[in-house]
Amino acid sequence: MQEKVYEVPADWAKRAYVDEARYNEMYEASIRDPEAFWDEHGRRIDWFTPYEKVKNVSYAPGEVSIRWFEDGVTNVAYNCIDRHLETRGDQTAIIWEGDDPSESRLITYRELHDEVCRFANVLRNRGVEKGDRVTIYMPMIPEAAFAMLACARLGAIHSVVFGGFSPDSLAGRIEDCASKVVITADEGLRGGRKVPLKANVDAAIAKVGGVDHVVVVRRTGADVAMEPGRDVWYHEAAALVTSECPCEPMEAEDPLFILYTSGSTGKPKGVLHTTGGYLVYASMTHQYVFDYHDGDIFWCTADVGWVTGHSYILYGPLANGATTLMFEGVPNYPDNSRFWRVIDKHQVNIFYTAPTAIRALMQAGDEPVKKTSRTSLRLLGSVGEPINPEAWEWYYRVVGDGRCPIVDTWWQTETGGILISPLPGAIALKPGSATRPFFGIRPEIVDAEGKVLEGATEGNLCIADSWPGQMRTVYGDHQRFMDTYFSTYPGKYFTGDGCRRDADGYYWITGRVDDVINVSGHRMGTAEVESALVAHAKVSEAAVVGYPHDIKGQGIYAYVTLMAGVEPTEELRKELVQWVRKEIGPIASPDLVQFAPNLPKTRSGKIMRRILRKIAEDEFSNLGDTSTLADPSVVDDLIHNRQNKR
Ligand code: WT7
Repeated sequence: MQEKVYEVPADWAKRAYVDEARYNEMYEASIRDPEAFWDEHGRRIDWFTPYEKVKNVSYAPGEVSIRWFEDGVTNVAYNCIDRHLETRGDQTAIIWEGDDPSESRLITYRELHDEVCRFANVLRNRGVEKGDRVTIYMPMIPEAAFAMLACARLGAIHSVVFGGFSPDSLAGRIEDCASKVVITADEGLRGGRKVPLKANVDAAIAKVGGVDHVVVVRRTGADVAMEPGRDVWYHEAAALVTSECPCEPMEAEDPLFILYTSGSTGKPKGVLHTTGGYLVYASMTHQYVFDYHDGDIFWCTADVGWVTGHSYILYGPLANGATTLMFEGVPNYPDNSRFWRVIDKHQVNIFYTAPTAIRALMQAGDEPVKKTSRTSLRLLGSVGEPINPEAWEWYYRVVGDGRCPIVDTWWQTETGGILISPLPGAIALKPGSATRPFFGIRPEIVDAEGKVLEGATEGNLCIADSWPGQMRTVYGDHQRFMDTYFSTYPGKYFTGDGCRRDADGYYWITGRVDDVINVSGHRMGTAEVESALVAHAKVSEAAVVGYPHDIKGQGIYAYVTLMAGVEPTEELRKELVQWVRKEIGPIASPDLVQFAPNLPKTRSGKIMRRILRKIAEDEFSNLGDTSTLADPSVVDDLIHNRQNKR
């Protein structure tokens, strides 16, 4: 494989917080003495009571426990807002860009303070206290940020559910953490299309109950049903409260938020992040990876429904006193120049997006990019899935005009912040590689038996020690936390990703090695899609795998066995796709559905997914050992009827 290297530009090495020598020095120090390193850097946030204990971690089988700065007391909203008021009260904290290009809004730190306090008071008047769970199901409007920060201010635990999830998915998440309060909007607006958020909340509550209050923000002005005694319009409740609300003192290990994410088995897991370590890690990575300096305009295009939005739209940037841009819309509305026009309009310096968006825009050609200026850009970022070198080169050459380094940031919902990424002033770039670990991160590549592999090698990616931003547990199920992440390779955190390390010590993430697929940078458990499919009356069995997709990275390939006597029609195929959309949400829509009278099973009845994966990937000649199949002829039928990529 031909490998290109892009050296650190001389001006970057000079201007950045760290150059190569400093990176090496800091990295070595962070590994040699993590206690001392984090003792120093934990003080980047303000503490009401400073910590004396830095790290208290055990990865021991059966007793995994992760605690950072545990005797410190602080508050995340205080760090993201109040501590900046004296010096930055009039600085823009949030630039909001609406779905419609004529709509935008600037919010200063002072205004952010007032808005968040009002929101907190509205919640407090509805009985929300420290430790309560609040579900937030919102479009990308400033009130989503106000609501999250309001929870942090009160010490309530927010659970943001992406607005693209179905009522059923929302219901499961409300029920799992027993939220008594839900915050939503009348409707969302994306790409000119409306999303019936309030109606979805009503449907979810009808299913699971248990919700005492629904706070509804007016976004589109749609006429929505309001249940007396339960539902309240935010603007009406906010008019009755003051814009002062004290910050709840929080211990470092008090929970900050839950975020549900898909795994290889069962229901989505409630990933729990806590207060002190999370904020230290999110803010520190935001500063160093994006080389954020005062006055820079930072834009992360994620939705706040994902961890990227939590850490790099909201918490990391605001803790650093940054100006962060929040975008309601989509990359191709009203046209394919939208991202680049927004960059020019708000003079964005640092732009952080996902490979799937880059690939989609690349297909629209250079012209929509080239007709914009983008001279404000200084740094580009990528996140969510491996970026193929062609997309990397296009991003670099066409979007960045060959001027801007690209930070390919590898991390996970579980990690809270970026673990492997170049620092733009320190690390030469290789297209497609996330390059080197961040301070304090000890990646290890292991083989199937758990043997640690040295040097240039390939295997499964583990992290040998804890870092402050690490998840602490699966909400309500610590056993599942230990089983999922610490049992495959005892004593290490297992990421679920495959990885190669080259001779220069650069890391190349090769994708998931478990039954998780990454569709447009969104994580989907194959088991979830399967259980949605078998919930359909005409389906007897289903097996779902990923396959390479030009834009999405991976597409969803579903093999479906129908009930006896049911005709496999084109119409039914469409119906099943719609069914999954309705059950889980549009991001789970199968791209290809193959009717399979039989699935390849072992004699003990276990589906051999490896074979299904190979067929979906068009690798018919490479199916491996099929001798353990109960009926090897099943495979020929599957190959014969393989569905084609769209
Ligand atoms: C999975 C985590 C936190 C980022 C948003 C997605 C894949 C993420 C990269 C990257 C290659 C990547 C991994 C990881 N992934 N970033 N730069 N290069 N793969 O968070 O939904 O928790 O998914 O996304 O497979 O395990 P997530």
